[in-house]
Amino acid sequence: MKQDNFYITTPIYYPSGQPHMGHAYSSIIADVFARFKRNDNSSVFFLTGTDEHGLKIQKSAEKNNLEPQIYCDKISKVFNDLTKVLNLSNDDFIRTTENRHHLAVKDLWKKLLDSGDIYLSKYKGWYSVSDEAYYNLDEVVDKDGKKISTYSGSTVEWVEEDSFFFKLSAWQDKLLDFYNKNEKFILPISRRNEVINFVKSGLKDLSVSRTSFTWGIKVPNDDKHVIYVWLDALTNYLSALNYPNVQDKLYKNFWPASLHVIGKDILRFHAIYWPAFLMAADIKPPNRVFSHGWILSGDEKMSKSKGNILDPIEIINTYGVDQLRYYLMKEVSHGSDGSISLQSLKNCINSDLANNYGNLCQRVFSFVKNNCQNQITNTKALSESDTKLITDTKLLLKNLRENMNNQNLNDYIKSVINISFLTNKYINDEEPWKLKKTDTNRMSNTLHLALEQIAKISILLNPIIPNSTSKVLEALNIDKKSRNLSFLDEKNILEDKIKINNLNILFKKIE
Ligand code: MSP
Repeated sequence: MKQDNFYITTPIYYPSGQPHMGHAYSSIIADVFARFKRNDNSSVFFLTGTDEHGLKIQKSAEKNNLEPQIYCDKISKVFNDLTKVLNLSNDDFIRTTENRHHLAVKDLWKKLLDSGDIYLSKYKGWYSVSDEAYYNLDEVVDKDGKKISTYSGSTVEWVEEDSFFFKLSAWQDKLLDFYNKNEKFILPISRRNEVINFVKSGLKDLSVSRTSFTWGIKVPNDDKHVIYVWLDALTNYLSALNYPNVQDKLYKNFWPASLHVIGKDILRFHAIYWPAFLMAADIKPPNRVFSHGWILSGDEKMSKSKGNILDPIEIINTYGVDQLRYYLMKEVSHGSDGSISLQSLKNCINSDLANNYGNLCQRVFSFVKNNCQNQITNTKALSESDTKLITDTKLLLKNLRENMNNQNLNDYIKSVINISFLTNKYINDEEPWKLKKTDTNRMSNTLHLALEQIAKISILLNPIIPNSTSKVLEALNIDKKSRNLSFLDEKNILEDKIKINNLNILFKKIE
């Protein structure tokens, strides 16, 4: 893969009910990284989609009295529609019921069979339908008369059936070696340690087919079995690049994936099974898996089964899509879990968007409109306070690219919003409304610098709040091609003589 090609994915979602904030969260994080990379001149392929096979989906379809395919068509569309509502910039939407995906899964299966990594036996053990996961005996406890997985808290059932197995145990040392050689394969580091400890404690062979239901991709030449839904689902990352056609441009340009964004509940699948499957099939593993924490409502994971869901669409209809995106990216620390509430959403919109960035844009644009007919010339004479603002800003810009490239969105946002804060303070201190009477050259320089700051902040916030920042950048007459991050390498964005357009209010303060 070329250095400047970047392939990023979200998890593919189970269409087993309506999408909720947890799904929106995974998708928005991935979208922010995708947009940042595009603005930083990479060629990006951003994938999302739906994971439509397995017992969980078969049961949901039965509950709704629909054929599984018809049920999936219906709910997958809801997830696809959500990509528009969330303003995701995905390049493709994959469904595991598509033919292109079936071809890829069957090919991968054959490779694993040919390499001797798959054998036929019998599975006896615990299975959770809601996680679509097998659990070891020591991972299951009794709770209120039910058997529960200690890993996820979901109920498990006893399963005994013929099954093909993947020789995961044979990959234990190779996986540890792989983690060792690729220090940033799993981020954040705390999660990496968790995975390494789990692998060190011993891996058992993994059951990779089921015989007690039919909704899935049939095992080639043995259609009593359907392929385990996780082996099926993970392969979506390959099928969207037209694997097994390895000569295909997409595959050549974008595999191995740069970044799989996932929730911490599905880390084992992505950080253990997935690289093991790929290595066994002689395919390069992805470069990185970034695992975010959960969105909590109070102290509990937000989930359908718990009935504590904040609906992203309702929030967007009431407050706006940029507002929700910003809130989720700013308030929920990415490695750990984070509680969300309407009150903290309102506080966040008011303090960062309305009072800080929005206010900065509004006050500068309306002053330039009312006092300078939207035209400003910079005479390039820097005052001490100009130099200070420029130096302080440079300092805050310094780590931004690295922050993003290490999925440290929290520090990134803090720095950018701090630049906005410093610029507001600069305006307060310089008082252009007074300079208008005493020194119009100085006033122009001050406003020019403020607009240059606004341009930078807007490009930096663009991946997070694309709609609002686009309005600002349009008002500054910065065309799409110029909205990139080359200024991080110390260039200015604006010409010395500029003409701007009016800007409408960006963020209403919420009472
Ligand atoms: N279908 C699998 C993923 C297969 S990827 C090859 C799956 N689907 S899911 O719909 O259950 O969840 C998808 C993602 O949404 C997971 O990464 C999960 O962590 C995330 N979220 C679901 N609820 C969540 C929260 N309450 N908080 C944050 N994210 C959570 O798993």
